[in-house]
Amino acid sequence: MNETAPICAMDAQTGGEWWRGAAIYQIYPRSFADSNGDGIGDLPGITAHLDHVANLGVDAIWISPFFTSPMADYGYDVADYRDVDPTFGTLADFDALIARAHALGLKVTIDLVFAHTSDRHAWFADSRASRDGAHADWYVWADANPDGTPPNNWQSVFGGPAWTWDARRQQYYYHQFLKEQPQLNVHLPAVQDALLDVTRFWLDRGVDGFRFDALNHSMFDPAFTDNPPVTDNRPRTRPYDFQVKKFSQNHPDVVGFVERIRTVCDAYGAIFTVAEVGGDDAMPLMKAYTAGNHRLSSAYGFDFLYAPELDAALVAKVLRDWPGTPGADGQSEGWPSWAFENHDAPRCLSRWADDAARAPFGRMIMALLVALRGNVFLYQGQELGLLQDDIPFHLLKDPEAIANWPLTLSRDGVRTPMPWDSHAPNAGFTAGTPWLPLSPGNIARAVSAQVGDPATLLAHTRAMLALRRAHPALRLGTVEALTVAGDVLTFTRRVADEAIACAFNIGRHRHALAAPEGTPLLALNGADAHHLPAWGVRFTKESIL
Ligand code: BGC
Repeated sequence: MNETAPICAMDAQTGGEWWRGAAIYQIYPRSFADSNGDGIGDLPGITAHLDHVANLGVDAIWISPFFTSPMADYGYDVADYRDVDPTFGTLADFDALIARAHALGLKVTIDLVFAHTSDRHAWFADSRASRDGAHADWYVWADANPDGTPPNNWQSVFGGPAWTWDARRQQYYYHQFLKEQPQLNVHLPAVQDALLDVTRFWLDRGVDGFRFDALNHSMFDPAFTDNPPVTDNRPRTRPYDFQVKKFSQNHPDVVGFVERIRTVCDAYGAIFTVAEVGGDDAMPLMKAYTAGNHRLSSAYGFDFLYAPELDAALVAKVLRDWPGTPGADGQSEGWPSWAFENHDAPRCLSRWADDAARAPFGRMIMALLVALRGNVFLYQGQELGLLQDDIPFHLLKDPEAIANWPLTLSRDGVRTPMPWDSHAPNAGFTAGTPWLPLSPGNIARAVSAQVGDPATLLAHTRAMLALRRAHPALRLGTVEALTVAGDVLTFTRRVADEAIACAFNIGRHRHALAAPEGTPLLALNGADAHHLPAWGVRFTKESIL
């Protein structure tokens, strides 16, 4: 229990819910900092660089999985939920990391993968061994059709059928991602109990929150009904894209599991819980998993992560989708989380801006991020303006990228190592050979090349995060007076005693602006009270009478 945690000023603003409106920095441990020269980042590497994260002014970190894993999906295939993979260190290293983070005022959020395990997990070894062992029904098994084909038409996210034959059980097992990631039967109360015990294990070690990976994938139609085909004309890279995932995921009973998770977390104080909810129909699920006061704190939206373009209409849609008004059933609406980048999606500056626009555009979107209602996530290197790296086929590591090359999600290109020192070998990431190459372009954007220079994106990121921390309206306020006029987006963030009018030009043409009366808080890219030049931003603190 966290009973001795100090009450900070932020707690007073957020009513003790430290996480509400928090800015959270995502660390992909493999690529953050390598302390032992094996070319792979690790927990001591993270600990040694936490001052960089704290200096940004974020509230918390989210660390992608560091648990024991054969690394078929680079840690999202967990073989032991209660230990640290030797590549990343030891449990003692984790304890040291959490102590250092807390000393720096950072909360620690970890990534629990509950929809599947690794095929090397002891539960799966037992489950595949026989049809009547202790874990026989902890995974999802089905007989073959009379002609030997899989039980239904479900396809896996990473390509190919979602069923793999197991010679020992003489049955197929279900996997929504790699065949090395067998689906857990989360419908089973005993499986839920085991996963809740895992949650308690890490709470007892002092973590402050969890991201629940692919939570909507954790339950499916137990009758294994075929998915229907899609009827739209969107591009189809994988067989997965040909189906509406009506039966293979998103079962409504996930909500009951979510409520059990919340009950466990509530015994430990203000624990942040955020569900990763992907797919075409994510919004109703995000709302369902977070509604009221007995489910998760937040759900993590994908709206920005894969958007090929950023425009005012997209931002307006995101803000309108979560108005924050009570639901029809009288329960409060949940709290969203937004990210422009993560370890799965291509770098946003590569998606959204060309070379010429990148500097002003980068400043504009950092201001936009801190003005969004919800929790905001930054992915490592976003504060430096890193671009997506182009990894040649022979150096690809990501199984999804290899399977679907050249039409890949390019996950390796966003997972290249963090550049710390532009003059050190491998930019200070490792003394060995980095597991993915660093590019000269991103090395030139290293922390060492930006620190101390007020004109850099690093300095701007700090300034924007400080602005959000200083103004409860930005962190916690409602969104009002939302307007879109072509490329110009305006809205006001408001709490009881503060209102901030925000205006963005998400375009390259100059527009007139009628900024409200009040104190100018921020003017970017040449904006003033009457004009928003290309990528211009203006925040005005309105006078409250
Ligand atoms: C994670 C991915 C992972 C997948 C399967 C996700 O959505 O973010 O990196 O491959 O879940 O666990």
